[in-house]
Amino acid sequence: MDTENTYELISNENLWIYGTGAFVLLWILVWLYRDSLEIEHVNQKYVFVTGCDSGFGNLLCRQLDRRGFRVLAGCLTEKGADDLKRATGPYLKTVLLDVTNTESIQKAVEWTKKEVGEKGLWGLVNNAGRSLPMGPSEWMKIEDFNSTLKVNMFGVIEMTMNFLPLIKQARGRVVNVASVLGRVAANGGGYCISKFAVESFSDCLRRDIHYFGIKVCIIEPGFFKTQVTSLEPIERELHRLWNQLTPEVKASYGEKYLDKYIKIQRLIMNAVCDSDLNKVTNCMEHALVAAYPRTRYSAGWDAKFAWIPLSYMPACVVDIALKVIMPRPAKSV
Ligand SMILES: NC(=O)c1ccc[n+]([C@@H]2O[C@H](COP(=O)([O-])OP(=O)(O)OC[C@H]3O[C@@H](n4cnc5c(N)ncnc54)[C@H](OP(=O)(O)O)[C@@H]3O)[C@@H](O)[C@H]2O)c1
Repeated sequence: MDTENTYELISNENLWIYGTGAFVLLWILVWLYRDSLEIEHVNQKYVFVTGCDSGFGNLLCRQLDRRGFRVLAGCLTEKGADDLKRATGPYLKTVLLDVTNTESIQKAVEWTKKEVGEKGLWGLVNNAGRSLPMGPSEWMKIEDFNSTLKVNMFGVIEMTMNFLPLIKQARGRVVNVASVLGRVAANGGGYCISKFAVESFSDCLRRDIHYFGIKVCIIEPGFFKTQVTSLEPIERELHRLWNQLTPEVKASYGEKYLDKYIKIQRLIMNAVCDSDLNKVTNCMEHALVAAYPRTRYSAGWDAKFAWIPLSYMPACVVDIALKVIMPRPAKSV
């Protein structure tokens, strides 16, 4: 290389490029290092998880139990609690909990107080949720919205408010399970509304209580194969919603609309639902063990490469995509 070329390589313009590159690389390395730092003495820390009968909650309890945490698992049914106890070690304890029932929540708080003693509660994972009914907004009655909001929105808020003193005692963490549907409203019914609410409740809470050393993390899973995405109950509910419509509304959609809607939904769900639930529980575990947990965790390839990018785009992009994908009602204009 002659002197002229060497001079060109380190010219002012190139120095800027190298400098910026080096800064970005350093920033990534520092971020990765910070992200990998973990807390100590997990075997002295208590974590309460809701909705542990199945799905993410059930898997998370087993994972945290193996990791050495003192897991307190809230289960909706006795069968769910018994099955989980049989599959885990002596330190995991279960309690019956319905997050829509104030008395049940208060009993769970009293039980937890006795379990954790002076240590307080390190983690509360608000995981319990339901998705049904889901379908076109016009097909819903107010009680259809309510049944989902009661569990996914008010359940999360009431659990958090009741457990907050115990979390404050341990300077612990609240981990709220939202969804990519809390970033992009792609479905009618209470589900998207409830998950948008979880996002905003978590943001408000984080900004209000960081002074006390409490961290609030949001998990945003994409689509995964669990009961929440199971096609049989989703389709059964769609038929129920259709059957409660007036003849006028049915006529505006046309008799073939329901079948077309179900076919398209089946196609999408079979294509996108991931069966590796660990992608979600690993995010939840990170939120509990990381020295510097992230504010948001997007779990799954569809979340990272489709839903989250879509959430930053103008609303018309999702409007057009859904218009192209979903069937048209018979009397559409
Ligand atoms: N799967 C997905 O693609 C996906 C995507 C984004 C977010 N999520 C969210 O992830 C969370 C876990 O869902 P999952 O996918 O693991 O489905 P899941 O297997 O159905 O888990 C939800 C759990 O919550 C329980 N539950 C329902 N109502 C309850 C109540 N009133 N009180 C206490 N527990 C109650 C369910 O009990 P029963 O089984 O006895 O009803 C079930 O064990 C939910 O918040 C869901 O919205 C799921």
